Amino acid sequence: MTGIIDVSQLAKTYGDGTKAVKGISFNVSEGEFFGFLGPNGAGKSTTIKILTTLLRKTSGSASVAGFDVDSDGAKIRKIIGVQNQDTVVDEDLTGRENMTLQGELQQMHGQALKERVDELLKIVDLVDAADKRAGFYSGGMKKRLDLATTLVHDPKILFLDEPTTGLDPQSRAAIWAYLKRLNEQGITIFITTQYLEEVDRLCRRLAIVDLGEIVAQGTPSELKHEIGADSISLGFENSTMNGGDTRSKAKELLEKKFDGISNIVNSDIGLTVYAKNGGFLVPEIVRAFDDAKIGLSSIGVSSPTLDDVFLKHTGKRIRVEEVSSANYRGMFSRRRR
Ligand SMILES: Nc1ncnc2c1ncn2[C@@H]1O[C@H](COP(=O)(O)OP(=O)(O)O)[C@@H](O)[C@H]1O
Ligand SMILES: [Mg+2]
Repeated sequence: MTGIIDVSQLAKTYGDGTKAVKGISFNVSEGEFFGFLGPNGAGKSTTIKILTTLLRKTSGSASVAGFDVDSDGAKIRKIIGVQNQDTVVDEDLTGRENMTLQGELQQMHGQALKERVDELLKIVDLVDAADKRAGFYSGGMKKRLDLATTLVHDPKILFLDEPTTGLDPQSRAAIWAYLKRLNEQGITIFITTQYLEEVDRLCRRLAIVDLGEIVAQGTPSELKHEIGADSISLGFENSTMNGGDTRSKAKELLEKKFDGISNIVNSDIGLTVYAKNGGFLVPEIVRAFDDAKIGLSSIGVSSPTLDDVFLKHTGKRIRVEEVSSANYRGMFSRRRR
């Protein structure tokens, strides 16, 4: 029990019997950038809601900055900033008004509050839009405003539930850059996300959850190292050949001819093969497939990524819908609340 966030055997069963979290344990050190990853329905939001005192746990224990989530909720709420999965900005108020209101709710007033709001508007790049109504903001701007709003009272710990999901790549990169800066200033960050590359670059440590349980935790490099193999990605020209399934034929051939392959899994384009010394294997695979008349459309080898770690522990690939910037052109199509 030494972290700024301590969780032990935490469980949550909802009223309808859904066991969303099934006895998880982890801790986060002060100043850490901690990633909490998992597919949809893994229990990420449930965990974050318990830690931020929005939801009661069923059993186990959880504390934030030494305060118990059940008995010291008010103390916890004073020192944390929370960004929920659904953005909550008041679209009838301007960006500045949204932030000022939040500060007032946290007992901040006058010049100090005004200065804090100005400072944050700069950090999230909303100075020019500060006095426009939030209803006119793009999706990325709303997320940035939401983030700034959670920071008004200068929290020590930031809880973020998928802050970049649904954003175009550019807004996503901007938000991760702000988070990095905040973390460098000493704020502890607990973030749930589906973007593994960003986690790999920015999180010092992470836990992977699936079906309410932690299936792996460690630093990104520890987890990637555990895979102990390169991944070779094979794409096939045709999905069927000689009336059979190309994938199965290829798999059969690989299993028969090659030692040192630790695992073969289906991928979008064909197969992903895990093997030590993948680079050496590639020309041999090409030759063998050529002999067997299996048409390859692509072949590539890479060192393990968090995607491979995720696949290994959950049997699933994380799937994130890519959003193109074009979807956000409708900046003025204001949605009614
Ligand atoms: N209020 C609720 N009542 C019943 N089941 C819920 C409720 N909220 C979430 N769940 C269920 O709990 C599981 C975990 O959900 P959640 O914590 O939202 O996962 P994640 O954020 O990882 O997608 C899912 O099966 C979900 O359907
Ligand atoms: Mg969620």
